[in-house]
Amino acid sequence: MIDTDLTFCQSELIEVINLFGKDAENLNIRHRTTEKEGKLVNTVTVSGRVYAYGNLVKAFKDEIERKRLVKRYAKLSVYKALSTHLNKQAPWGALTGIRPTKLAYQQIEETGEFEDFFTSTMKVSAEKTLLTKDVLDAQKGIYVKDDDNCDFFVFIPFCPSRCKYCSFISADINVAKKYVDDYVDALIEEINYSAKYVKNLRSIYIGGGTPVCLPDDKLERVLCALDKINTGVEFTVEAGRPDAITESNLKILKKHGVTRICLNPQTFQDKTLVSLGRSHTAQDILDKYELCAKDFSVNMDLIAGLEGETFEDFKDTLDKTISLNPDNITVHTLSVKRGSTLAEKVSRLDDGQTEKMVEYSYKVLKEKGYVPYYLYRQKYMSANLENVGYTKPNKACVYNVDVMEEIAQNIACGSNAISKKVIDGGRVIHREASPKDIPTYLNKLPQILQSKDKLFE
Ligand SMILES: C[S@@+](CC[C@H](N)C(=O)[O-])C[C@H]1O[C@@H](n2cnc3c(N)ncnc32)[C@H](O)[C@@H]1O
Ligand code: SF4
Repeated sequence: MIDTDLTFCQSELIEVINLFGKDAENLNIRHRTTEKEGKLVNTVTVSGRVYAYGNLVKAFKDEIERKRLVKRYAKLSVYKALSTHLNKQAPWGALTGIRPTKLAYQQIEETGEFEDFFTSTMKVSAEKTLLTKDVLDAQKGIYVKDDDNCDFFVFIPFCPSRCKYCSFISADINVAKKYVDDYVDALIEEINYSAKYVKNLRSIYIGGGTPVCLPDDKLERVLCALDKINTGVEFTVEAGRPDAITESNLKILKKHGVTRICLNPQTFQDKTLVSLGRSHTAQDILDKYELCAKDFSVNMDLIAGLEGETFEDFKDTLDKTISLNPDNITVHTLSVKRGSTLAEKVSRLDDGQTEKMVEYSYKVLKEKGYVPYYLYRQKYMSANLENVGYTKPNKACVYNVDVMEEIAQNIACGSNAISKKVIDGGRVIHREASPKDIPTYLNKLPQILQSKDKLFE
């Protein structure tokens, strides 16, 4: 797709090309970089037309910085060449492969500002630059760089059934029943083993999958293991699907110090819930909300751009969610693998609807007293948009900030969990990923524990 002399960042140049979707599919793109006397020149040839861009650069502090800037200007040049060639802009301009907020923080450290850099250099739209600024403002007081800080993550890879759109790894518990006991045993062993790395604990997060689809006794065993490290910090359980939440599992969560849970509608449209394969109704969400809000701070996840939904459907969903008054609302934009049947259908149906949904969320949530406090982008997101977590004042989830900005150690347990060792406030990050599938995780637990020692000791 692209012939470049910078093989170390070829995949990221491809991501930039992918921002232009089908329009860029049949273009013949060649890219070359030269570096001479403080100047980087990137030449991009698009189906025979030549575009050249020069950027002055200071002497590089080290090789890490050199690679970072060479890559940045290469991506930017490919973006600008294609944007000119196709007369098309992306909301986040040439930003791919790095969280917008991380880049904004880096830029503030280096130059004292990020907004002009976002709009003038990286070609980010004014709206998305403002969104990034709002997030940075909302993170004040939570965003702390201290290499002694840590968060503790536990992954439960089971769900009551699989939802059609889901891009996360998890197994239908009815199909993977035979692994549940062994998985819980292995997970507890890993939690107990990892407790020694905990210093300045900021939060605990049990994610999934759907953690509360574990039978109550198994869920309680996992929580008992976590009791030993819990110092009364923010404790989230991504309970998730209303059909898996019961009075009994909520009681167990409360007993073990859980403070925050996710109860996720995704949509309030029954017809969509059926077509997504989520075995609950809109009424179930309302019923379970009452139960959850009694004892916990509640987050609700929504998805903009679901197949078959119009702007009016989404607006209705968001308005109903706001009327419940949860502390946090997270608005995801549907992400579907390029080339999949669903991607084809979604892009044909979209015609700017998702963008309108995302714009409406920002506007109405701010009017209702919520602020955006974290944001991230994934590959293959509809209309190249973003996922945004909104919060009421002083209710932001510390775990989400730490994990998005990569400013604290992340001690992660379970299959598909990624532990992170951050050094120098996140300038260097070492990662250790556990196997994604359950049987391999079970078989490799001894090696996983050894790798963790290497990472954190
Ligand atoms: C790890 S999932 C777990 C949520 C929980 N099991 C549930 O279904 O309510 C976290 C969130 O990711 C979002 N999500 C999953 N697949 C997605 C996709 N393909 N595009 C956009 N958001 C997605 C959903 O909003 C979901 O609530
Ligand atoms: S229940 Fe949640 S994690 Fe499981 S398949 Fe559905 S969206 Fe994905």
